Amino acid sequence: MIRLDKVNFGYNTEQVLHDVSFHIKPGESRIIMGGSGSGKSTILRLILGLDCPWSGEVYIDGENICGQKLKHLQEIRKQIGMVFQEGALFDSMTIAENVGYYLFEHTKKKESEIEQEARRMLEFVDLDPGIMDKLPEELSGGMRRRVAIARALLSTRPKIMLFDEPTTGLDPQATKNVMNLIRKLRKEENIAVIIVTHQIADALKLADKFVVIQKGRIVFDGDMDELRGSENPEVIKFLAPFRESISDVVKRNFV
Ligand SMILES: Nc1ncnc2c1ncn2[C@@H]1O[C@H](COP(=O)(O)OP(=O)(O)O)[C@@H](O)[C@H]1O
Ligand SMILES: [Mg+2]
Repeated sequence: MIRLDKVNFGYNTEQVLHDVSFHIKPGESRIIMGGSGSGKSTILRLILGLDCPWSGEVYIDGENICGQKLKHLQEIRKQIGMVFQEGALFDSMTIAENVGYYLFEHTKKKESEIEQEARRMLEFVDLDPGIMDKLPEELSGGMRRRVAIARALLSTRPKIMLFDEPTTGLDPQATKNVMNLIRKLRKEENIAVIIVTHQIADALKLADKFVVIQKGRIVFDGDMDELRGSENPEVIKFLAPFRESISDVVKRNFV
């Protein structure tokens, strides 16, 4: 479904990603963990085809995403939903307009029809459709994040959802809500998710396979057991502050 093959990339002359390779099969999910500035958001930009690697390739569904004609690139992108860091809603649009944005812009559906779909999607993300006429600033951070997820789902009917730091800045209850929603996507809609985060404790509860990136290099790619057993000094150093949450999760999942 998604394959990065020996990707090197940077901004201006500064190299950010070094020889990054990993792949994700259809329906599979992956957490990409790593410290701030290690290149996580950059990987998502490359998967969306917003930038192209200096060398190496990014394949979506077997197609190299770089060098495609714009129209075809848009077709490929339709399979991918993206929830950016902080949600990024349009401030001056109502919640209904935000959620239905893609349908308003790219289809000839009637307003009443789009409203209907937006309402259904808000219910899916456990929000009261009563908020349809409100502005983003009237909602809490956790609710805004769920509106952003509803918008991504309605935009593209994605097979893959990319989440950049989905729980950053949220309180514990809102974090729980967003994580439950991501689980629901995986289970009920069978959508592959890639979650990028530096909040490891949350990440461990969301997927079964992990990539750890340090300073633009992949230092780990495997499952929870392999992660715990890893003798790679970079991985041990990175995970040290989270040992407790790892054993918590392992207990809950396997005992
Ligand atoms: N648009 C940009 N222009 C120049 N440098 C950038 C840009 N975006 C990110 N960087 C740099 O690339 C590195 C990786 O950034 P990023 O992928 O956002 O890391 P992460 O998401 O892991 O925190 C950082 O050093 C950052 O400063
Ligand atoms: Mg980032």
